[in-house]
Amino acid sequence: MNYFLTSQNRRVAVAPSSNDRTPRALPSSRKAAPAMALANGTWSEMDAPSCSALISSSTTPRPTLTAASAGSGSTLTAASVPSATVAVAPPEPVAISGQLKSLEQPKRIGIIVGSLRADSFSQAIANGIRALLIEGDSRLLIEQVNSAELPLYNQDFDDFNQTPASYPPFRRQVSALDAVIFVTPEYNRSVPAVLKNALDVGSRPAGQNVWAKKPCGIVSSSPGPIGGFGANQHLKQVLGFLNMRIMQQPEMYLGKIAESIEPDGQLSERTRNFLRHFTDAFLQWIT
Ligand SMILES: Cc1cc2nc3c(=O)[nH]c(=O)nc-3n(C[C@H](O)[C@H](O)[C@H](O)COP(=O)(O)O)c2cc1C
Repeated sequence: MNYFLTSQNRRVAVAPSSNDRTPRALPSSRKAAPAMALANGTWSEMDAPSCSALISSSTTPRPTLTAASAGSGSTLTAASVPSATVAVAPPEPVAISGQLKSLEQPKRIGIIVGSLRADSFSQAIANGIRALLIEGDSRLLIEQVNSAELPLYNQDFDDFNQTPASYPPFRRQVSALDAVIFVTPEYNRSVPAVLKNALDVGSRPAGQNVWAKKPCGIVSSSPGPIGGFGANQHLKQVLGFLNMRIMQQPEMYLGKIAESIEPDGQLSERTRNFLRHFTDAFLQWIT
């Protein structure tokens, strides 16, 4: 099922098998569940690709957030939140029936935002996705993968051993991820260059594509009515070529996004409920 959010913030669905692509309102019995509280913690966009916010909300004691949580209030724009790194200890082994059994290693999910804008809608969506993921599985390690510092890819960098300093940590960070979520606006019916550049940097040198085989999901948005459909589809094409495992359903196009963000930068309750379809499916997808 494909979901769209309309200008009235009504959820409408389009059956993928139907030839009639006209959006139809979902029956009231399928309307979203009541909102749940956002997870605690503040997520900050980092200032270097090697330095990402690594935040775990877990059943074991929650790590103390440093600069990011202190006095940050509720505004979650990239510009207003200071950088921080939070170390997360691996889970302790637990005793079960007299035997020591290690907990499953928590999944590490990277979120990449295709916008550099200080008050980016995409960043607000990414913040909301992070909170929803942690609601879904408190042991997740969620980190934002920053692509702002990556110089435009030039094949000579790799061919002549002139790799920019920011490339290796970026490639290592992506390599270590278990799954990736792309949150992108639409630029001229495609993905913004910053996102395409990050994909290109991670795809090279030839034979060392760090994106390969990773499960991934796409969320696109736009202040316009069609939710970045063009960007979403173009991105899908690129990720397919990069041999990523793309979650196909539910597709997520957030239209009229300006109406879905509260003055404090948080997603509206209705949009959170809508996005929960995506995050719940994604957690299934990556397990
Ligand atoms: C170069 C450029 C091209 C754009 N092209 C599109 C477009 O094709 N479709 C669209 O819906 N919005 C387009 N927009 C408007 C963006 O959706 C809008 O600026 C949005 O706020 C960008 O996302 P952000 O808030 O995450 O930065 C474009 C904006 C820019 C700067």
